[in-house]
Amino acid sequence: MNIEGMLFDAGSIDAKVSELADAISRDYTGKEIVLVCILKGAVVFTADLMRRIDVPLSIEFISASSYADAARSSGSVALEADIGTNLEGRHVLLVDTIVDTGRTLDHIFRALLERRPASLRAVALLDKKARRTVSVPLQYAGFEIPDLFVVGYGMDYAQRYRNLPYIAVVRTEG
Ligand code: IMP
Ligand code: MG
Repeated sequence: MNIEGMLFDAGSIDAKVSELADAISRDYTGKEIVLVCILKGAVVFTADLMRRIDVPLSIEFISASSYADAARSSGSVALEADIGTNLEGRHVLLVDTIVDTGRTLDHIFRALLERRPASLRAVALLDKKARRTVSVPLQYAGFEIPDLFVVGYGMDYAQRYRNLPYIAVVRTEG
């Protein structure tokens, strides 16, 4: 596996995160948000995004796995850690760094809808739209990218590269 090249540098990511945060702040004016960070990949994005949103918010974490340790989806999604707090009547905003097939987001969306939130939306920095197999509502999408496997800014390949401050394309063998 090799890093092939940079797709988005730290400055471009920064500008896009601000854009998304501004849109979110505008839309939720007068409301309070529960940001739900999808572990582990959305940790970096959530940390940056939350500091630029200027409406009151709290954060929760949820963990789901679709990709085990590789670049390919296993086809099933399992919730590994759930939210203890009551979401009923609250404005919930799911945060993920990338939406690929849409299975992960769809699975979490359905699980959280059962908690009867006042509203449920999703934000992702990257959208691999061409790979979508499950149609999911993604109200806030940063960059649309082609079918490439990317790492950095929280995203991994076999748990590595999450610490890269930029987003890079990797070539995966097999
Ligand atoms: P989906 O369920 O197919 O939409 O996959 C979403 C999840 O797969 C994301 O939350 C990431 O954890 C992971 N993922 C999808 N594409 C990539 C990628 O290009 N690089 C790293 N992780 C990815
Ligand atoms: Mg992963």
